[in-house]
This record gives sequence, C-alpha cells and structure tokens, in this order.
Amino acid sequence: MIPLFLGASIAHKEGSEDDLISTNLVALSLFQIVGEGRMLSLSNIEVVYSDVILVLKGVTLEVPDGKIVALLGANGAGKTTTLKAISCLLKTELGKITEGSIVFDGQRIDQKNPEEIVKYGIVQVMEGRPSFENLTVEENLIVGASSRKNTTGIKRDLEMVYNYFPVLRGMRQRVSGYLSGGERQMLVMSRGLMARPKLMLLDEPSLGLSPILVEDIFKIIKRLNKKEGTFFLLVEQNAMMALSISDHAYVIENGRIVMDGPAAELIENEDIKEFYLGLSKIGKRKSYRDVKHYKRRKRWVG
Ligand SMILES: Nc1ncnc2c1ncn2[C@@H]1O[C@H](COP(=O)(O)OP(=O)(O)O)[C@@H](O)[C@H]1O
Ligand SMILES: [Mg+2]
Repeated sequence: MIPLFLGASIAHKEGSEDDLISTNLVALSLFQIVGEGRMLSLSNIEVVYSDVILVLKGVTLEVPDGKIVALLGANGAGKTTTLKAISCLLKTELGKITEGSIVFDGQRIDQKNPEEIVKYGIVQVMEGRPSFENLTVEENLIVGASSRKNTTGIKRDLEMVYNYFPVLRGMRQRVSGYLSGGERQMLVMSRGLMARPKLMLLDEPSLGLSPILVEDIFKIIKRLNKKEGTFFLLVEQNAMMALSISDHAYVIENGRIVMDGPAAELIENEDIKEFYLGLSKIGKRKSYRDVKHYKRRKRWVG
C-alpha cells in the first residue's frame, strides 16, 4: 500500500497527466520491488515424505506474472516434488511441507487442497499422466473444463485448443487409449488448458517425445505464454530446449536450488552445457557442487 500512496502524493504535487502516468509507473515498479506484483513465490520450502525422508531443503523461487520459468535438474533432484508442493498433491503421497510458505497472487496457498488450487488458476500437467483412456479426445477435453464455474466458454475454448494443437482436431472422436505418446502429451496439456489456468506447472513435457515433436510442444508453450498470457513453471531435464523459451531458470540438485539466472545467461554457461550435454573431462558426470566458479545464489533470509 505504501508505494501507491507515495505515487499518489507525488502526482498530486506535480499536477499534469504525464506526471500522473509516470508517477503511477514509479508506484508500479516500487510495488514490484516490495514483491506485491509477483504471482507465485516459494520461500524456503522444505518437504518431507512419510515423516522421515527430507527431499526439499529450503527451496526459494519465483514465477512472475507473464513469464516462463524453468526448473532444471537431474533425475531425483526434487523437481516433481516442488510442483506437487505447489499444487498440493503431496498429501496423496504422504508428503508434507514442513517449513516455508507458498504465496500465489498475494495469498498463502500451502495449506490448501488440490481442488482449491485449481480454482486459484493453477493447473499441474503431470509427467506421463494418462488420459481417461475410454473417453474420446474431445470428451477428455470437456472433462478438463469441469473445474470451471463458468461453462459457457467451453465451445470457444475447444476451438482455441484445436487451433494450438491441430493434430487433436483431426482426432477429436478417437478413443484416447489409442493415441501415441506425443499425441497423449498434447492431450494432457490441452486438457489442462481447458481449465483456463493463469499458471501452468508442466512436468517434463518433452519426456519420451521425438526431437521434432519436442520443438513443436515448446513453440506452443511460447505462443500460449505470449497470446493467452498463461505463465509457466516448466520442469525439464532437457535444459537447452527449456532455456531457449524461458525467461529465467533455476537449477535444483539434491533438493536445493544451486543456481539461478536469466535463461539467456544460463544457456551460455559452460557448466550447464557440460552437465547437460556431455561428460566432464575425467569421464564422470559433474555435480554443480564440484564446479568451482558457479555463483552461489543469494538466499532470502528472514
Ligand atoms: N512419495 C514418495 N515417498 C518417498 N520418497 C519420494 C516420494 N516421491 C519422490 N520421492 C523421492 O524424492 C526425491 C525427489 O523425487 P522427485 O521430486 O520425483 O524428483 P525429480 O522429479 O527431480 O526426478 C527422489 O529421491 C525420490 O526417490
Ligand atoms: Mg519428476
């Protein structure tokens, strides 16, 4: 509230309309500095499974409105657990957030249930999630819209989804159990879109797909972000592809964020290239902990 008040009082002094616009911009950017303009933020999240297995150890990350943020890391690093912490799906697996907080659009969401999270506009598309195999493609999409209060736009949204994924339009009457891996990936993403999410949590959309299909899916993510304003937390092992469409990225290792930065910088980073694209000189995969010159990220304390 303070920045807006500040902006208004300056505007009052200066008088003209231009001043009002520029002071409002000042107010807006001040708002962002104090964190009010940010959409999703995790602060020092700790997750424990079955009361004993500590998996996330103080994860802090942010997904600002309108952006694509990548969460990169090797198998078992804690990527899916991070997404489940956000979507509140941990409970179904005896997982618990034991420390920290998750705020979306100014509200604490870490103690909610999965249905409430969907109503806030957050949808998780799970890795390898099966569709309803006995339903047709279109029936699956209509199920995706069932969480919405307002069902009047469903026809229009089906049209939108078919425009993004033209392959599905030709298969709308096909029973989804017969789809290929790539087609199924498109269907689960589309089903998520039918909920009209503000934020999509995508878990390894490239997994098991051919390189051409991966490229297609990533282009669609970028278009959705630009045209529909959907923003994304994109979990990937395919680091280079994810970085090519992301604004910002975090690297998670062993339940801790070990690095973060603008995607354009990380894509040039030798350690990232080496870790994700090949073996180190001594023939062993490197850990970020072995890399001397990585910038240790600042932690928010307090
Ligand atoms: N339900 C669970 N119970 C116990 N341990 C789990 C559970 N789910 C995941 N884990 C463990 O947590 C760690 C992180 O898993 P996960 O978040 O799935 O990693 P990623 O998605 O990065 O591959 C792994 O060591 C995994 O074995
Ligand atoms: Mg995973």
